[in-house]
Parts: sequence; C-alpha cells; structure tokens
Amino acid sequence: MKPPTTAGGSDPNAGPKLENIMRRAIFPGSFDPLTNGHLDIITRSSPLFDELIIAVLNNPDKQPMFSVEERCEMIKELLPAVVNTNCRFRVETFSGLTADFARLREATAIVRGIRAVSDYEYELRMALMNRRLEPAIETVFLMAAEEYSYVSSDLMKQVFVLGGRVEGLIPVLVEGKMREKLGEKNKV
Ligand code: PNS
Repeated sequence: MKPPTTAGGSDPNAGPKLENIMRRAIFPGSFDPLTNGHLDIITRSSPLFDELIIAVLNNPDKQPMFSVEERCEMIKELLPAVVNTNCRFRVETFSGLTADFARLREATAIVRGIRAVSDYEYELRMALMNRRLEPAIETVFLMAAEEYSYVSSDLMKQVFVLGGRVEGLIPVLVEGKMREKLGEKNKV
C-alpha cells in the first residue's frame, strides 16, 4: 500500500506545498483614530494569518479628526509594538467597497472585531453583504478583550474633546496626536 503523504511532500498529487500557502486577510475600518481595541484585534489576528493588511477607509463623506495619511502613519508607528508571530503587516488606504479591495488584494478573509452583542447585528449584515459580493472571502469575527468592550473611536474622541481621561484605552502616541489636534483647533 502507498504510504500516506502530507501536502508539500514528494507526491505530485499532494496539493500545494504548505510553505506556499499564503493566508492574507484585510482588517478594514475607519481607524479615526486607532484605539487599544483595534490593536487588540490586530494582535489576536496575527497568529491566524501570514499577512494582515490594515485597510484604512478613505471616506470623503465623513469629517474625520485625522486625515487618512495621519491615521496610516500612526498605525505604522504603533505596529512594531504588536506582539507577533510571523505575520507581516501592511497599512493601506482604500475607497469604495471593502469586498472589492479584499478581492484586489487576493485576501481570503476580512477581519472584524466584535465588542458586544450590540455590534453583532450591524456586523452580521456587513458580513453577509460582503459574502454576497465576494463568496470566496469569509469574514472572521474576533472578540475584543473585555476591557475594550465599550471602546470606540467616536467615544474616545468625544470624551477626550470634553476633557475626560482616556489613558489605557488609546495608545499614548494617539493621545498626543489628539492633544495636538485640539491645540490646532483652539488656535483657529
Ligand atoms: O471602523 P468602522 O467605521 O466600523 O469600519 C466600517 C467599514 C469601513 C468596514 C465599512 O463602513 C465599510 O466596509 N465601508 C466600505 C464601503 C462598503 O464596502 N460598504 C458595504 C459594506 S457591506
């Protein structure tokens, strides 16, 4: 009897070599700004994929606190601190449909974080729509750490602008940039 072989062995029918299988995912979002909740999701996704593209949406309909360039720069600066296996990170901007961007980048998955049950309905609708648009791309939901279950970019901006404390919920670098932004605004 022929001995069993593993993928990547000498058997030509064994399928692609394991080392050639690339698991690429995108993590799309507004990231205005990046929070510790986002960093937590990035950390949790890193052992699951070979490459993770943090995809920053360029949405001309919204008035963001930070430009897409500023958001990307902050994310790039913060990524080296993410405890990581062998996952490679890329930061890119995109406009239009997330499903189109994922297909163009040949991603097999879209990563989204779920903080609480209240996120689920919105996320489910997006995941199902994205699956309809691109049936080969799965949405992978990851549960954020409990301590970030109420953290959102919008809430962080609101509390910060009104003088509340946000330490531990957003990276120190982001807090500094928000302080600079507020200073610039107050000068006008
Ligand atoms: O960080 P956010 O704001 O929760 O991210 C939402 C985002 C960017 C993932 C979502 O708005 C999106 O995918 N926008 C791109 C346009 C699109 O594909 N819309 C249809 C979604 S089913």
